[in-house]
Amino acid sequence: MLTQQELKQQAADAALEFVDAVAAPDVVIGVGTGSTADLFIDGLARFKGRVRATVASSERSAARLAGHGLAVLDLNDVESMPIYVDGADEIDANLHMIKGGGGALTREKIVASVAERFICIADESKLVQRMGAFPLPIEVIPMAREAVARRMAALGGRPRLREGFVTDNGNVILDVAGLSIADARALETDINGMAGVVTCGLFALAGADVALLATQSGIRRLDKPA
Ligand code: 5RP
Repeated sequence: MLTQQELKQQAADAALEFVDAVAAPDVVIGVGTGSTADLFIDGLARFKGRVRATVASSERSAARLAGHGLAVLDLNDVESMPIYVDGADEIDANLHMIKGGGGALTREKIVASVAERFICIADESKLVQRMGAFPLPIEVIPMAREAVARRMAALGGRPRLREGFVTDNGNVILDVAGLSIADARALETDINGMAGVVTCGLFALAGADVALLATQSGIRRLDKPA
């Protein structure tokens, strides 16, 4: 029986095969945040010299990449990336995701938006029929905290401030439990339209292109439905 850590390692290793397929001296790889992304970063170290650089979705990942001697570029200096590799807190069969358990959702969404393909790496426990059991993280400008919390409560959620946490962008996170997410794209649009919201952790308008889900019997690959 593989442990969750071993499953995460398996998913990270599977994503490194995608890096192998695109590696070239001018290629930049987009890198996510979290414990699964950390394992991916550690494996990426062996591609030093085979790819030009990386772009990180958090200060934490940037530091880990730099610790391996991998170049980390500012996204403003990068025009394209073939892949962005990151974990998820929940993912469904449409490859819509909830992300932001690590609080890096906004930079994750920005870096992913520049990449041609989003490769999601996770253990199979993250695959759900309907998202919402994991509280939805929302990055909020501090002065809008209570106003956004009231609007999320009106939508049936139970918002809670992530105590003692400030994002890399200087904002706060509301974790909203109890949402019934029937239409993730519509909910993402609604929440992102609220004044004071930077972005919510729904990645449905632009979800993953490929999910590499580690199971006890190997990698299960899901592709975005046509
Ligand atoms: C960070 C994220 C992570 O990808 C998500 O929380 C999954 O993390 P882990 O790989 O540690 O389970 O969105 O903001």
